[in-house]
Amino acid sequence: MANPFARLFPALSGRRGVIESVEARRTFRDVILPERTRRMLDDALTQVHSYNLIFRDWGLGERHPTGTALAFNFAGPSGTGKTICAEAIAHHLGKRLLLVRYAELESMWFGETPKNVAAIFRIAEEEDAVLFFDEADAIAARRSTDVSQSIQRETNTTVNVMLQELERFDGVVIFATNLAANFDPAFERRIRTHVLFELPDTEEREQIWRVQLHRRTPLGEDVDFRELAARYAVSGGDIRNAVLKAALSAAAEEGADELKRIHQRHFVGAMEEVVRAKTVMKQSVIESPERQYDSALAETRQMLLQMRTAGTIAAAAAGAALLVAAIALILALMALS
Ligand SMILES: Nc1ncnc2c1ncn2[C@@H]1O[C@H](COP(=O)(O)OP(=O)(O)OP(=O)(O)O)[C@@H](O)[C@H]1O
Ligand SMILES: [Mg+2]
Repeated sequence: MANPFARLFPALSGRRGVIESVEARRTFRDVILPERTRRMLDDALTQVHSYNLIFRDWGLGERHPTGTALAFNFAGPSGTGKTICAEAIAHHLGKRLLLVRYAELESMWFGETPKNVAAIFRIAEEEDAVLFFDEADAIAARRSTDVSQSIQRETNTTVNVMLQELERFDGVVIFATNLAANFDPAFERRIRTHVLFELPDTEEREQIWRVQLHRRTPLGEDVDFRELAARYAVSGGDIRNAVLKAALSAAAEEGADELKRIHQRHFVGAMEEVVRAKTVMKQSVIESPERQYDSALAETRQMLLQMRTAGTIAAAAAGAALLVAAIALILALMALS
C-alpha cells in the first residue's frame, strides 16, 4: 500500500515517523493486565461493539452523522501496555492503527499543529483506521486563559480543532496520557472511558515474562520466572527489554547454536542492566549538566548573599564599635575638663 503520509509529511517516509499506519497484529492474548484495567478495557470494548451495531448495522450512523466518535483515554506509566492495547482494539475491529506521536508532532511543526491534526483525521477517515494519539498529555490538558504566549495560543487552537474533529469523526480515537489529571473539561466530556494502566504485580509480571517468549525460544532448566517476577518490580516494557537483551547475550556465547539456551543468569544480567539504565536515566534528568550548572549557580548566589549579609553585619558591628569608642572618648574628655 502506498504510504499516505509520504504525501503529507514527505520528509518522514521511511523512518520511525511522527505518524505511522500500523497493521494491527497484536491481540489481547498478548497482554497481561491487572484485573481493574481489564475490566475498564472490557467496558471500552463493549462500547465499541455496541457502537458498531447501532451506527453501522442498524444504520443510525446515517441518521445521526455527528458526535458519534468513540474517544478513550488510556492513562498510565510508560511500558504498561497502552500501545499494545490500542493495537489490540484495532485488531479486534479488523482495522489499521494510525499512530500519532503527538508530543513530537507538536514540537516538530510549531505553528502547524492545528492544520496537521485536521489532516490526520482526514487520513484516518480515508484509511478507516483507529486513531491513536500517543504522548497526548499536552492536548488533553486544560486550555489556558492566558493567551499572551504564542505556544499557549497554538495549544488552545489545537484543542479546539481536536474537539471539532471529534465531533465529525465517526470512528474510534484513543489518547494515551501519562497523567490522568488536569483534563480540559470540554475534552473530558468527549472521552467516553478512562482506562487506567497500572504497573503489574508479581503474579502478572510472571505471566508477562512468559508471554514475551515464543514456544521455540530455548530455555535452560534453571529458568525461574517466579523468582524473576518477585525480584524485579518493573513494567512490562522493562521485561520486554530484558528478554531481548538476555536472548542476545545467550546467542552471542560460544558454541553450536542448537546447544544454546537462555539461562537464568542471562535474564538476571539483562534485568540488572535494564534497571541500571533506568537509574542512570533518572539521574541524568535530575543531574543533567544544565541542572548541575544551575545548582552551582544557585549555590554561588547563595554564598554571595551570605557573604554580603556577613559583610553587612561586620560593617554594622564595626560602625557600632566606632560609635561606642567615640562616645567613650567624649565622656573621657568631659571628665578631664
Ligand atoms: N501488560 C503487558 N502485557 C504484556 N506485555 C507488555 C505489557 N505491558 C508492556 N508489555 C511489553 O512492553 C512493550 C511496550 O509496551 P507498550 O508500548 O504498550 O507500553 P506503553 O504503555 O504504550 O508505554 P509508553 O507510555 O512508554 O508508550 C510491549 O510491546 C510489550 O512487549
Ligand atoms: Mg506507548
